[in-house]
Amino acid sequence: MYRLTMQDDTSLDEFRGHVRALVAAKASPRDVTWSIGSDDLFGAAPPPDAPIAKFTVPSAYVDLARNVLCHRDPERFALLYELLWRLLTDRLLLSVFSDPLVYRLRQMEKAVRRDLHKMTAFVRFRRVDDDGAEPHYIAWFEPQHLILKPAADFFVKRFATMRWSILTPDGTLQWDRRAVSFGPGVPKSQAPTEDTLEDWWRSYYRSTFNPARVNPKMMKSEMPVRYWKNLPEAALIPQMLADADRRTGRMIEAPPTMPRRVAMPMNAPAVVHEAGTLAALKQEAKVCERCPLYACATQTVFGEGPGDARVVFVGEQPGDQEDLMGRPFVGPAGQMFDRAIAEAGIDRALVYVTNAVKHFKFTPRGKRRIHQKPNANEIDHCRWWLDRELALLQPKLVVALGGTAARALTGKDIKITQMRGQTITSRGGASVLFTVHPSYLLRLPDAQAQREEYRRFVHDLSQVPRQLPSVAKAA
Ligand code: URA
Repeated sequence: MYRLTMQDDTSLDEFRGHVRALVAAKASPRDVTWSIGSDDLFGAAPPPDAPIAKFTVPSAYVDLARNVLCHRDPERFALLYELLWRLLTDRLLLSVFSDPLVYRLRQMEKAVRRDLHKMTAFVRFRRVDDDGAEPHYIAWFEPQHLILKPAADFFVKRFATMRWSILTPDGTLQWDRRAVSFGPGVPKSQAPTEDTLEDWWRSYYRSTFNPARVNPKMMKSEMPVRYWKNLPEAALIPQMLADADRRTGRMIEAPPTMPRRVAMPMNAPAVVHEAGTLAALKQEAKVCERCPLYACATQTVFGEGPGDARVVFVGEQPGDQEDLMGRPFVGPAGQMFDRAIAEAGIDRALVYVTNAVKHFKFTPRGKRRIHQKPNANEIDHCRWWLDRELALLQPKLVVALGGTAARALTGKDIKITQMRGQTITSRGGASVLFTVHPSYLLRLPDAQAQREEYRRFVHDLSQVPRQLPSVAKAA
């Protein structure tokens, strides 16, 4: 009889080590018992020091095992070993879905995957300000299975620029914007309660709840009731369901209206399908309707440049020509920008260029479209995309071209005339250098002032290759 103890009960490496030794010892699954923890009351009896067996299993088994090890069922090790034992003589077993063992393990895998998916959708961070230090976001979540480690990757990528912790009864996951760490589980009493983000979730939920489309059965399958107790917005559901018929009647009778501009606070975590690359993010941004600006613009103008750029330039919003061509900084301001960065010794091909707002805002005047400055709400809405671009790029230096970019990068209204040429450290850890927007130079009425300001602009920009010689133009 072999007694195996898993120290880290979700570790594929540890499980792999055990089963290799078991197969080498020709240990039938009937003769193996498994336990979890550091001490077996009767002392573990591992297989004798037989040579480690050399055998291969289909990669689908490895994927299955990786997920099933995160299932809470204590029988998972025995079931996985039994499957492996049978696979040694029947390589095609995994495709026999009617086999009771295969079926059971597949169901377990499905439950783990579903739980992971629900965790990515239902974690709600609360903001905690510790002693004037930068904000810390803490979430309490009760997963069905042991999914904290496999979930880490998603949350690190999704909230790369925030300092956060996810607390669960089984373990805790921390991200300090540099490294991820795991700790022991904690009771719910250690998690923070209400904060201002709760209100945001509730108003968001209220505004997206369509009483005419309500399907309680589907809703409960998408947002299972067991998660409700930790979802601030779930408290609204019973009342909203009760009101649904009455509201639908009112909607049918009401005359049509223009879409309302909604204000949403920034930094609120939202449920998205995470884009893991700039190309995927750009694709997502193409259909952005997060604010009303999309309605009149020709297209989303996303940033462009190398994915490993160490310097990012952030402008205000696409102009008329950028809107038509779908590329940032290609119109008159872009030509001014190109000239100035070249003079400052920067190679445009080595930097990433984007805008704080991704749609052109204008008012029509005759046949012309006159640029309009985006307002604070539009800038804050669109930071959704900029934050993600920066999280994927992880630049060393971000150059804010003008006040709109400065607001998008710092969340504050910065006086560029006072801050130009200066560098601060942003919330995301990158340095932010402030300077004027090239259109500002184009608007100056007097040629002498324009020459003078252009010289100062180039002077500000020349800090970039000094700080990061890798973006310098070849001599
Ligand atoms: N102005 C900007 O800020 N960005 C552009 O892409 C063009 C003009």
